[in-house]
Amino acid sequence: MRKKIVAGNWKMNKSMEEALILASEVVHMVKDEVNTDVQVIIAPPALYLTTLQKHTEAVANMGIAAQNCSNKASGAYTGEISASMLKSIGATHVILGHSERRQYFNESNEVLAEKVNIVLENGLTPIFCCGETLEQRQAEGFLEFVASQLTDSLFHLSAEEFGKVVIAYEPIWAIGTGLTASSQQAQDMHAYLRGHIAGKYGQEVADNTSILYGGSCNEKNAEELFACPDVDGGLIGGASLKSREFTNIAKSF
Ligand code: G3P
Repeated sequence: MRKKIVAGNWKMNKSMEEALILASEVVHMVKDEVNTDVQVIIAPPALYLTTLQKHTEAVANMGIAAQNCSNKASGAYTGEISASMLKSIGATHVILGHSERRQYFNESNEVLAEKVNIVLENGLTPIFCCGETLEQRQAEGFLEFVASQLTDSLFHLSAEEFGKVVIAYEPIWAIGTGLTASSQQAQDMHAYLRGHIAGKYGQEVADNTSILYGGSCNEKNAEELFACPDVDGGLIGGASLKSREFTNIAKSF
């Protein structure tokens, strides 16, 4: 049975004090209100992981994620943070390949394949992002384009390794725009990606892969999105910065 997951990508937001307040509100609400078969993950700025990890550790179904990590194990890479460092401070997941990192920091599928490897080697769970631009969606071949992001960065993995990866489909045109994909658009892409995974690794691996939706998911549309047979939860941006709304999204299954 694949996991239901709601992950909050805080991106580059909140002071330490604000982050402590948000994390503690979320942890208490999740503990009291969210069904234990839903895994809730927060992804604060890496600076805060050590402090906030102590809060999330208290709740069995909670995880704490980094928003990125280096593709190198260690060494002279100024400013970088390694997967082993993240592991050492209690991170459980790492978001990889977010469209903002692909766009602003030129992360290629090849570099992301290296990041996936090093995250898995350190016993962490990759949340691997994929998605198309508006121009790509309006043209032919956007389904195949998004599937190719999985092929190029993930399909070198063994079936056992791939089974540890969480996928997040984030149509770039829906991120931060308030323009959410319709549940049919989300379902169609998720089903296509699951079929693509099945073609490589077989139906059992595909059926056990959690595929999250991200892109203006909020407390009003989450229930309809999560009701889709191939949508296994959400990767939430703006709405994750509000504890009440983020918790309501996690309650939307
Ligand atoms: O990683 C999740 C994020 O890209 C979605 O952002 O603000 O549209 O929920 P938002």
